[in-house]
Amino acid sequence: MDKLVIEGGVGLKGEVTVSGAKNAVLPIMAASLLTDEPCLIKGVPNLRDTGSMLKILRSLGKLAEFDKGTVSICAGRTRSHVAEYKLVSTMRASFCVLGPLLAKLKKAKVSLPGGCVIGVRPVDLHLKGIRALGADISIDSGYVIARANKLKGAYTYLGGVYGSSVLATDNVMMAAVLAEGRTIIESAACEPEVADLAEFLIKMGAKIKGQGTPVIEIEGVKHLHGATHCIIADRIEAGTLILASLVTGGDILIKNVQCQHLGALVDKLKEAGANLEYRQGSLRVKGNRKLKSVNITTLPYPGFPTDMQAQMMSLMAVTPGISVITEKIYPDRFMHVAELNRMGAHIQREGPHAIVEGIKGLSGAPVMASDLRASASLVLAGLGARGKTSISRIYHLERGYENIEKKLINLGAKVWREKE
Ligand code: UD1
Repeated sequence: MDKLVIEGGVGLKGEVTVSGAKNAVLPIMAASLLTDEPCLIKGVPNLRDTGSMLKILRSLGKLAEFDKGTVSICAGRTRSHVAEYKLVSTMRASFCVLGPLLAKLKKAKVSLPGGCVIGVRPVDLHLKGIRALGADISIDSGYVIARANKLKGAYTYLGGVYGSSVLATDNVMMAAVLAEGRTIIESAACEPEVADLAEFLIKMGAKIKGQGTPVIEIEGVKHLHGATHCIIADRIEAGTLILASLVTGGDILIKNVQCQHLGALVDKLKEAGANLEYRQGSLRVKGNRKLKSVNITTLPYPGFPTDMQAQMMSLMAVTPGISVITEKIYPDRFMHVAELNRMGAHIQREGPHAIVEGIKGLSGAPVMASDLRASASLVLAGLGARGKTSISRIYHLERGYENIEKKLINLGAKVWREKE
């Protein structure tokens, strides 16, 4: 296993380009199961998670290849209806093969993904929506077994205790596109990645309206064909790079930014006094020593993204004042708190809140990454800290950030890998 070592305190400078969105590409790859015709997906980041989805597609009978940012899925039948535990357990997003498999093959057997360090992560909303379309669902030996001779369009409300669900909306939308008649998904997730999936499905011949809003309307069609699609930019990678510039007092130009997807983050950063200039798809971010603390509450899109909470905490840890960070999507998503405190941060957790007392600076320390976004927060903390930080279990970072070391090195950061 590798660890990432960072010699902190260097202000980042230069240009960097954001990759395609991980959370858009995974369900879009799963959507290729809905057709026997070829699909081309462009702007795909080279990540551990995209590699895992390729393996799943191949295990289901597809011929799928990744080369230079493009996934090509050749013409060929979706043959198997079984998504194995060993593949699904590596990545929760693989559960979104359930909807397309059921729609295409009338049956699906997909392993339950299980929980993870950020929380319990149930799938009740996925099953509720798919049952509403007429599927018969049972759970046996850790697998969801779904059958439906004919899926029928229906009304389904997908709001849960923590709001809407991204992958449940994706799963139900993908099952409904080939169902007979009209489906209405109310309290649908509005995330840009859900809208991107809908755009891909529309290119395949699906009839969908309302994507990107809480009410999605789908008129089922008999057949979907192959399609070519280019993935939207990763808003979480863009947000992480913005904070990398701020936390190091840098001056960087971030290219391929879709600022319209970053509203809540940009608003909070402006409130904190950050200097952000957006022009034609690029964002210039200049560090500002006079930032002030702000409070943050994570919410479903267009609220502040839970996937930016840990990284924002790293910035608030070195911003004067008190910041209250409230996690409303995953109330236990605070594994990074103890690690940031090892670097000298003053953060106290109180249930779903973290109270951050900003201090002058962190000091490098050995720390451990627990999940993808927590790893990103430790990288940010290390970049801004005095001295050396070594981050163990850095493989988490590879799940969601393409070439991140190379990108940071090009911006002048002192970052390298060592064997543990
Ligand atoms: C997606 C993102 C993940 C992000 C999350 C929230 C992908 C591949 N992953 O995950 O990066 O952190 O959205 O923005 O797109 N819930 C239920 N029942 C369900 C499903 C979810 O109660 O059936 C709860 C979850 O436990 C959580 C909340 O709903 O509290 C939102 O989760 P959800 O939007 O489903 O997350 P994912 O789609 O798994």
